[in-house]
This record gives sequence, C-alpha cells and structure tokens, in this order.
Amino acid sequence: MNEDGNDMNPYRASGELAGITSLVDAFYANMDRFPEARVIRKMHPEDLTESRKKLTYFLCGVLGGPRLFIEHYGEINLPDFHSQFPIGYDERDAWMYCMQHAIAVQPYEASFKEYLVARLHIPAERIRLVNEMGI
Ligand code: HEM
Repeated sequence: MNEDGNDMNPYRASGELAGITSLVDAFYANMDRFPEARVIRKMHPEDLTESRKKLTYFLCGVLGGPRLFIEHYGEINLPDFHSQFPIGYDERDAWMYCMQHAIAVQPYEASFKEYLVARLHIPAERIRLVNEMGI
C-alpha cells in the first residue's frame, strides 16, 4: 500500500505508459498473426504505427492515467467512431481474443488480468451494440 492508500490504481498496475505500450504491441502482433482476427485486421491500415499509438494513448486514460489521447487527438466518442466499421459479435470477439491473449503474456497479477479483460469487454460490447442499433 502506498502513501495515498491506493495500491490498485489500474494505470499503475498496468505498468503505466511503458506497460500499456507493451500490451498494445502484443495486441496488434496478435491481430497480425491470429487467423481468428483476419476479419478485423482487414479493417485496419496496412501500417499499424498510428493505430498502436492511438490505442496506447486511449488506454492510458481508460485506466485512470493521463488522458493522452484527448491531449493529442481531441475528444472521441468510441461507438460513434467505430460505427463506420461493420462490428458484430464475431468482430467484437476477435478484438477481445487478441486483447485477452495480449493481456495473458503481460507480467500482471492474475487478478489484474481478469479485471482488465472485464474492463475492456465493456467498451467492446458497447461498440457492438451501438453498431447493431445503427445509432
Ligand atoms: C469491438 C471491436 C473493435 C473493433 C473491430 C475495432 C476496430 C477499429 C478500427 C478498424 C479502427 C480504425 C483503424 C485505426 O485507427 O487503428 C479502430 C480505431 C480505434 N479503436 Fe477500435 N475496435 C474495436 C474496439 C475498440 C475498443 C474496445 C477500444 C478501446 C478500449 C478501441 C479503441 C480505438 C481507438 C482509440 C481507435 C483510434 C480512433 C481514431 O483514429 O481517432 N477500439 N478500431
């Protein structure tokens, strides 16, 4: 327990910017090589450099760290942004599959890995749902 009484800050638990960069690198490496992810890999640009940076910055904010995405790119409404892509159950599950396997190889506590999978399933499902509703 540190002096502010919080040893469960998700940004710290994820290894801050360096840890989240490793996580996102593993995530996109999975998207490149998993046959299950082909359906969503095709939606992404050939060069994933910018995609890596954007997801890394975004996740820093999601996990309670600095809001780097907003600082660099401005506000974003995640479901609105993703409504340009056809995202149903298969695409949501493919995204989560890459993420789950990326989380699995990080040096995180088992309980934090579980937390992170559950935490990221929330926006992934929200994106799918808004897409389905066509709003
Ligand atoms: C549900 C399945 C998802 C699919 C199929 C998907 C797919 C995509 C695609 C094709 C892009 C555009 C290419 C790019 O800029 O990299 C993108 C951008 C992005 N995605 Fe997702 N995504 C999903 C879920 C998520 C989730 C759960 C998050 C955050 C927790 C997220 C965060 C982002 C961000 C921050 C961007 C960049 C937005 C921008 O260019 O301004 N995505 N996504």
